[in-house]
Amino acid sequence: MKGIVLAGGSGSRLYPLTLTTSKQLLPIYDKPMIYYPLSVLMLAGIRDILIISTPSAIPAMAALLGDGAQFGLNLTYAEQDEPRGIADAFVVGADHVAGGPSALILGDNLFHGAGFPEVLRTARATLDGCVLFGYPVKDPQRYGIAELDQDGRVVSLEEKPLRPRSDNAITGLYFYDADVVDIAKNIRPSARGELEITDVNRAYLAQGRARLIELGRGFTWLDAGTHQSLLDASQYVQIMEHRQGVRVACLEEIALRLGYIDVEACYGRGIEMKNSTYGQYVMEIAQALA
Ligand code: G1P
Repeated sequence: MKGIVLAGGSGSRLYPLTLTTSKQLLPIYDKPMIYYPLSVLMLAGIRDILIISTPSAIPAMAALLGDGAQFGLNLTYAEQDEPRGIADAFVVGADHVAGGPSALILGDNLFHGAGFPEVLRTARATLDGCVLFGYPVKDPQRYGIAELDQDGRVVSLEEKPLRPRSDNAITGLYFYDADVVDIAKNIRPSARGELEITDVNRAYLAQGRARLIELGRGFTWLDAGTHQSLLDASQYVQIMEHRQGVRVACLEEIALRLGYIDVEACYGRGIEMKNSTYGQYVMEIAQALA
């Protein structure tokens, strides 16, 4: 399965923070925002990942992440010259997914919770059509919303409904089979001028092949697209990390635990950053797992 991180957009809701840098490179506490969605794809067992961003942001992203070898990944980059909507990721990324299944994640989404790797692996193993991930929110007008029947089957999908039929938001993580590229190429821009991912998901729903996994209470899903949500996400990570002494979305740790890199490579990454507590943590993990 291939992965895509959609890390484009102008980030205008974060101005002036994003006037000269990309939203997905801003910090969420101790690491760049894009580490969080990358960690999700890694936990899903995905190593071949396309990062889609704006022409001006790609050089900085490539300087940060390179070809991904330090995390045991194969990272490539593609330009989205203007924000044409989430579904455009499959137009830009058509060659990357190359007729196989894929996972798309939004570059400002943070997922965290016990048992998440198992949820991801099960979703991947049982993929038929598309798998969406739902999360209860108190402001459903802001999101794509799924209505489920008593058996948990999806009966409707709506983008930012004025009168939501449920509070079940569709998070920015999507698993698709090979049909997604054709579906994305055939949808039309919405009233706000974007290729809506919800229209792609509705095409799968019309075929009876859209499934939703409820992440539910006890799980954490945050997006970081506004000043308030950016701070909320930082505070969440700070509290988790200080209380438990572990790091959320430490890519070197995930790569080492999954066997993508060896202890020496992990330790070497830690040394490069030894003046930071992040670097010291990476060194400690390498020593603990040696
Ligand atoms: C987008 C999607 C929406 C989804 C949300 C998750 O919203 O259109 O369906 O619930 O991401 O973050 P947007 O970021 O375009 O407002």
